[in-house]
Amino acid sequence: MAKTAIIGGTGVTNMPGLTLNYREMVKTIYGAPSSPLIHGSINNCDVIFLARHGRRHTIPPHMINYRANVKALQEVGVTHVIALAAVGGIAESCGEKSLVIPDQIIDYTYDRSHTFHGAKHDKFEHIDFTEPYSAKIRQQLIESAQALKLPAVTEGVYGVTQGPRLETTAEINRMEKDGCTIVGMTGMPEASLARELGLEYACCAMVVNRAAGKVSTGINFQQIEKNLLGGVDQMQKLIAEVLSNGL
Ligand code: HPA
Repeated sequence: MAKTAIIGGTGVTNMPGLTLNYREMVKTIYGAPSSPLIHGSINNCDVIFLARHGRRHTIPPHMINYRANVKALQEVGVTHVIALAAVGGIAESCGEKSLVIPDQIIDYTYDRSHTFHGAKHDKFEHIDFTEPYSAKIRQQLIESAQALKLPAVTEGVYGVTQGPRLETTAEINRMEKDGCTIVGMTGMPEASLARELGLEYACCAMVVNRAAGKVSTGINFQQIEKNLLGGVDQMQKLIAEVLSNGL
């Protein structure tokens, strides 16, 4: 049976609608995860919640211990992970407030501990990352979004930048030429680490701003905050639906 975890991103340090059962502090050989694991339920469906940026949103994207987060989930028996992320929209179709279920990734990050392999004498293995996300979870996210009539974009290329600064216009133009349709800072190495441990993993992104240079008015941080609040509500509905349909 699937054991599902939600990794909450910016704006989702608490999962609204989650009934708390107990908190668990896990320590892995890679260190402690960003937050305690919250064991609870949404609409009577069991779920584990992890706040990627910490409980008080204090860990910036490049400082997150992605290995400890993914390993901690595996150690408590998690098999399926839904990763939530706030992103910027690059493609026209990815307007503010839309939900995007990406199917591809381009990794622009650097200096992050991006693999479980590399320990001395460790026999390493390559992973197939042709399709970086779980087809099954994506399908469930898409069907659930459609059932709820949420404005979901059913495919997309998530360009993952190092942050914590936002991008320049030229960087976004280059990313667009590369094929990126959304931009965020936390999609990698989380996705490939999950694959290394054999976890089913998919991402549900909410667009909280148009990417740099995409609107003449520039980036408006107040508007981002507002969009985050609205987006969290949609995400919560979507997650509840996915969990009750079962993974
Ligand atoms: N760029 C990178 N990460 C982001 C953005 C953005 O425009 N918006 C939210 N996360």
